[in-house]
Amino acid sequence: MSLPFTVLILLIFSSYFISLAHSKFARLAISPKTLIKNTPDGSTQKVDESGLQMFYFNQTLDHFTFRPESYMTFQQRYAINSTHWGGAKANAPILAFLGEETSLDSDLSGIGFLRDNGPRLKALLVYIEHRYYGKTMPFGSAEETLKNASTLGYLNAAQALADYAAILLHVKEKYSTKHSPIIVIGGSYGGMLAAWFRLKYPHIALGALASSAPLLYFEDTLPKFGYYYIVTKVFKETSERCYNTIRKSWKEIDRVAAKPNGLLILSKKFKTCAPLNGSFKIKDFLDSVYAESVQYNRGPSYWVTKVCNAINTNTYPPNSKHDLLDQIFAGVVALIGNRTCYDTNMFAQPTNNNIAWRWQSCSEIVMPVGYDKQDTMFPTTPFNMTSYISGCESYYGVPPRQHWITTYFGIQDVKLILQKFGSNIIFSNGLSDPYSVGGILEDISDTIVAITTKNGSHCQDIGLKSKDDPEWLVMQREKEIKILDSWISTYQKDLRDLNISN
Ligand SMILES: *[C@@H]1O[C@H](CO)[C@@H](O)[C@H](O)[C@H]1NC(C)=O
Ligand SMILES: *[C@@H]1O[C@H](CO)[C@@H](O)[C@H](O)[C@H]1NC(C)=O
Ligand SMILES: *[C@@H]1O[C@H](CO)[C@@H](O)[C@H](O)[C@H]1NC(C)=O
Ligand SMILES: *[C@@H]1O[C@H](CO)[C@@H](O)[C@H](O)[C@H]1NC(C)=O
Ligand SMILES: *[C@@H]1O[C@H](CO)[C@@H](O)[C@H](O)[C@H]1NC(C)=O
Ligand SMILES: *[C@@H]1O[C@H](CO)[C@@H](O)[C@H](O)[C@H]1NC(C)=O
Ligand SMILES: *[C@@H]1O[C@H](CO)[C@@H](O)[C@H](O)[C@H]1NC(C)=O
Repeated sequence: MSLPFTVLILLIFSSYFISLAHSKFARLAISPKTLIKNTPDGSTQKVDESGLQMFYFNQTLDHFTFRPESYMTFQQRYAINSTHWGGAKANAPILAFLGEETSLDSDLSGIGFLRDNGPRLKALLVYIEHRYYGKTMPFGSAEETLKNASTLGYLNAAQALADYAAILLHVKEKYSTKHSPIIVIGGSYGGMLAAWFRLKYPHIALGALASSAPLLYFEDTLPKFGYYYIVTKVFKETSERCYNTIRKSWKEIDRVAAKPNGLLILSKKFKTCAPLNGSFKIKDFLDSVYAESVQYNRGPSYWVTKVCNAINTNTYPPNSKHDLLDQIFAGVVALIGNRTCYDTNMFAQPTNNNIAWRWQSCSEIVMPVGYDKQDTMFPTTPFNMTSYISGCESYYGVPPRQHWITTYFGIQDVKLILQKFGSNIIFSNGLSDPYSVGGILEDISDTIVAITTKNGSHCQDIGLKSKDDPEWLVMQREKEIKILDSWISTYQKDLRDLNISN
């Protein structure tokens, strides 16, 4: 991420990166849809709408100031599934999914954890859309809402958490269930929101499940190894040969690009939809292919294995000219499919979600993802905060506040502080997810626990269940639900002991 800006961009669901010319914004995204299904924002999967009711809540524009315009309201979308709820009398729990940087529809089709476990906990299920995403546009149209810093200024994590607090209290009132315990759940950026929500609103949420939340990937809490360290590690562990081929390919791309007609040769070799005018775009595209493969590397097809098998087996006669790049291209085809041409911007489309996320990345969610010289198969380009800041500033007219998240949420020195101050949070991470480098991977106390799995990918535990799920994943989910269940039962017992009822 550094930033001169050619295009704006981002990408979405699933593409976790937005590039501003030479910079990438870390995008978190819970699931990888674009790549595989090639859909724009949102999902192709049909949402199971049985038992699901949609609502709009009159939400306050600015929770933190009391100027006349702060009182403006907008319609915030949320959904409720009460099919299995045990009722107010039983103080049956509420499982609330806190939306992240995507539409509610995407979450409804991609998140399985609530509907899979709701019946067992007799829970009311609530899914809330994040402000500025999906249909929740504070200034009416997306165009108006996403226009510039004046309208985008109300998009930040603190406002989003306050939105969730207001809606959850409203839902409790609606169901006349003042004392039902609420568990908040989120993944990725939404996982950070879930953890922060428990810390800021302990009177509203009894506990939080924060899946793949890179809470420690900020300027003041930099991980020792970065995102691309894991991307490289997973490729290397999958196939040393594949890793070596990729490592050598960047120079080969530069070598070809420098030839007369070199860009034309590269465009043909990678079947790009538009002719390349430099080597940056193709390198950026390949980078996203590898990162995406690792971030969502899961069964049954295991993308990294798929890409590497193609790279390894696609061999050409020893003296044919660009065999190495042909192998690389075979990896692309293995992941994305056989297409008439490949859009090098496919991971960086300026969709509404991506535009909103770019703002968040240029205001407070500044995650310094770079390419450091430690073992990496990518060319070294360390994150450059100076150029990141000036890029954002020239784009929006205001600079990012890269220290704000740690100032406000204070998650540094977790062991010293959370141990005494916090409780009831599960941090789950798959160690094969590149974002796990910024996750909380060790227990903090008896009630702030880390659940890690060696082969887990990004947000895999809260995603859709499948009959191919490995045993460790089934066990991980079981462990999580047992912990949530114990918090809920203890709380319900406390209510009975204190003779409190709805
Ligand atoms: C390539 O084209 C894009 C617009 O299509 C432009 O913004 C960019 O500066 C060009 N890059 C080079 C190296 O000419
Ligand atoms: C929400 O706001 C709209 C427009 O401001 C208003 O017509 C509607 O009655 C409000 N709904 C509730 C439940 O307050
Ligand atoms: C709502 O509950 C019904 C009944 O359990 C279930 O079939 C459906 O999948 C649930 N949908 C969501 C989105 O939670
Ligand atoms: C945003 O656009 C509005 C209307 O087009 C304008 O009045 C306002 O000054 C702009 N704000 C910024 C920060 O550019
Ligand atoms: C890809 O599609 C083209 C045209 O449809 C076909 O000729 C080619 O054999 C396909 N390649 C693979 C690897 O399937
Ligand atoms: C970071 O970027 C700035 C401005 O683009 C440049 O002047 C500086 O040399 C860069 N720093 C490093 C360490 O590369
Ligand atoms: C993790 O993945 C590796 C390689 O893909 C595999 O060999 C190993 O058996 C897996 N471990 C578990 C616990 O599933």
